[in-house]
Amino acid sequence: MKNFTYHNPVRILFGRGTIPKIAEWIPPEKRVLVIYGGGSIKKNGVYDQVASALDGRGWSAFGGIEPNPLYETCMEAVETGRREKAEFLLAVGGGSVWDAVKFIAAAIPFDAGDPWTIVSEHAPVREAIPFGGVLTLAATGSEMNSGSVISRRSTGEKIPWGSPLVFPRFSILDPETTFSLPERQTANGIVDAYVHVLEQYLTYDVNAPLQGRQAEAILHTLIEEAPKVRANPRDYDARANLMWAATQALNGLIGVGVASDWATHLIGHELTALHGLDHGRSLAVVMPAMLRLRKEAKRGKLLLYARRVWGIDGDDEDRAVNEAIERTEHFFRDVGCPTRLADYGIDPEGWAPIPARVEARWGRIGEHRDIGREEVEEILRLASGTAARGKA
Ligand code: NZQ
Ligand code: ZN
Repeated sequence: MKNFTYHNPVRILFGRGTIPKIAEWIPPEKRVLVIYGGGSIKKNGVYDQVASALDGRGWSAFGGIEPNPLYETCMEAVETGRREKAEFLLAVGGGSVWDAVKFIAAAIPFDAGDPWTIVSEHAPVREAIPFGGVLTLAATGSEMNSGSVISRRSTGEKIPWGSPLVFPRFSILDPETTFSLPERQTANGIVDAYVHVLEQYLTYDVNAPLQGRQAEAILHTLIEEAPKVRANPRDYDARANLMWAATQALNGLIGVGVASDWATHLIGHELTALHGLDHGRSLAVVMPAMLRLRKEAKRGKLLLYARRVWGIDGDDEDRAVNEAIERTEHFFRDVGCPTRLADYGIDPEGWAPIPARVEARWGRIGEHRDIGREEVEEILRLASGTAARGKA
């Protein structure tokens, strides 16, 4: 196992009826700025619950954070926060709102030039406004980590960044808030969480069996619970299990002491930046192709994955690896995320700029840093065609 330091200070308040607990964890004298997305929280009653939890305090709200949150919109919120002297931010929404709030929290006090450099150059964050939130979509893990991904309309970029100063103070995870999710967003979230696990699990063996078993437990949970929410979107237990699984998938725990990959995410972000693909869907496209191209480099872990997660037995290792990759792609499609570029109308001309963009920003990627421009191109080529019938 590799050396590591692990620290996660996020207080999780989990379960039905936990939104009123906001009042316990925001100091009463603080001026609060509630930040939310396009309005789903006004339709499903979450906004009203938050408003009543904040009753009697000084608070205001900023709405309009879009999926794949834009720097431009975040800067409007920064202006609002500065003008109103916000002392505590409250994220109410999915990963995009949480990511936006992390940026806004760091940008409000930032005095070393344009806050965009926090994202583009990873300029050091020396101070951030404290924040907490209410999560309404199980997917990103943003509610229990210190990462964020911000896009910029004017430059067509989508870039991850992070700082230990943007861990949430608390996160309210009430699975009932996710009952109102459209099928597509539930599907995106399941694939996102699944790929977060694969990016930390399917690398190479460093003799860390506990992290491996924890990762497998999350994968099993996602595979078992996905059909239940599809059949009944108001199945509380299934929603609860998905929510906790997604949080565990990217709160850092399964990634300690092991190698991680993240190449699928970095390529996926470019697909989103160029074509607006939902985050989960970009991963559903890239991950199967990534595994096909890199199955030798990942062979040991892929075999373990085949045996332990998909229960594929037998002595034929090649068959086991290939079948595990096919089952993975099939799972993404079953959940509701098409897995090929053609499914989204993206042709080779559409993805042509991506290999150079990835190389220019990140150099060589993957756990062995063996994915360069040519490999990215090959991955996108493998992801292009339609999935073979029956094999997904
Ligand atoms: O904006 P509203 O009206 O709220 O609607 C949203 C949005 O349209 C809707 N939604 C959310 N909760 C709902 C709901 N609709 C009905 N009922 C509810 N309860 O869902 C749509 C998508 O929301 P979004 O927040 O964009 O989805 P998600 O949680 O998948 O977040 C995706 C973003 O997170 C980033 C992605 O890159 C992407 O920008 N990620 C953040 C990570 C992190 N911070 O650690 C890691 C991830 O890998 C990921 O990159
Ligand atoms: Zn993700």
